[in-house]
Amino acid sequence: MSRAQTKPDRMAWIKGPNAPCNVEPERPDRAWRLILLGAPGVGKGTQADLLVERLGACHLSTGDVFRAAKCIPECNRSPAMAGALDYMKRGELVPDHVVLQIIKERIGCLRCRGGFILDGFPRTVGQAEVLQMFLRAYDIIPDAVINYTLPTLEVIGRLSGRLTCGNCKAVFHATTAPPKKAGVCDHCGGVLAQREDDRPEAIGVRLEAYHKSTSPLIDYYNKLNLLISVDASGTPDDVFRRTIEALRTSTRGGHRLAAAGA
Ligand code: AP5
Repeated sequence: MSRAQTKPDRMAWIKGPNAPCNVEPERPDRAWRLILLGAPGVGKGTQADLLVERLGACHLSTGDVFRAAKCIPECNRSPAMAGALDYMKRGELVPDHVVLQIIKERIGCLRCRGGFILDGFPRTVGQAEVLQMFLRAYDIIPDAVINYTLPTLEVIGRLSGRLTCGNCKAVFHATTAPPKKAGVCDHCGGVLAQREDDRPEAIGVRLEAYHKSTSPLIDYYNKLNLLISVDASGTPDDVFRRTIEALRTSTRGGHRLAAAGA
């Protein structure tokens, strides 16, 4: 399968529906629609980047929307967004009504003919039910829901070593994917730093929220016959190979990859 030509800039997702969008699907009939599940730090964002490169579609992360909002001057943030950032800083889930409002404003990205790779949404059964309702209304059936699995100790190791570029948002890891020069982004020379919610006290809260509120989605999507599980251990390339294999053997994804001659 050919690689996507241009990486979508996701501006309509990150900044909202009034921002210009550069998504020009080459083959709209083949647009992929995937949902990524898994504990914080399991590697969803890393895999989403690889999937975008291989399959096209836009990487839609709710966490990225909130992090982008942090760059807006405080006086210009809506009260709901300011509250959301406080939840995020502590590692707690942002309340459903705030998340769903953000999704509603960006519904065009879910309907986009270029497809989507959702990462970090849905995160509760309530959010998943609303997403199903939206998708049904537009006759969209996701190709698969990919659940990445990894022992908790390894998840903690990935989170505690993560370094993010303050400028281009590229992600590194202190030991498994270190930058060439300590503290400096390989891509843009920006400063690398630890995310606020990767501090030990916030990691515990995030893992608890995941087990309580997000892991029930595994059962939810299993019942819809959409779930495929992928072992997230090993290198990002190992995990990516497993992901493509899992898609190949899944009910809907298998047809899609076969039709594309992949
Ligand atoms: P969000 O941004 O969605 O964070 P998350 O789900 O906690 O996931 P992460 O971004 O932390 O990890 P990841 O799985 O993408 O891992 P990554 O690829 O970076 O959400 C943040 C917060 O926003 C939430 O806590 C909540 O407050 C709020 N929020 C967002 N959406 C919400 C919603 N729908 N409802 C309510 N609240 C919401 O990898 C991690 C590290 O591991 C990196 O350093 C990477 O280099 C390394 N790594 C990755 N893969 C491998 C590998 N195979 N081997 C070795 N190292 C690896």
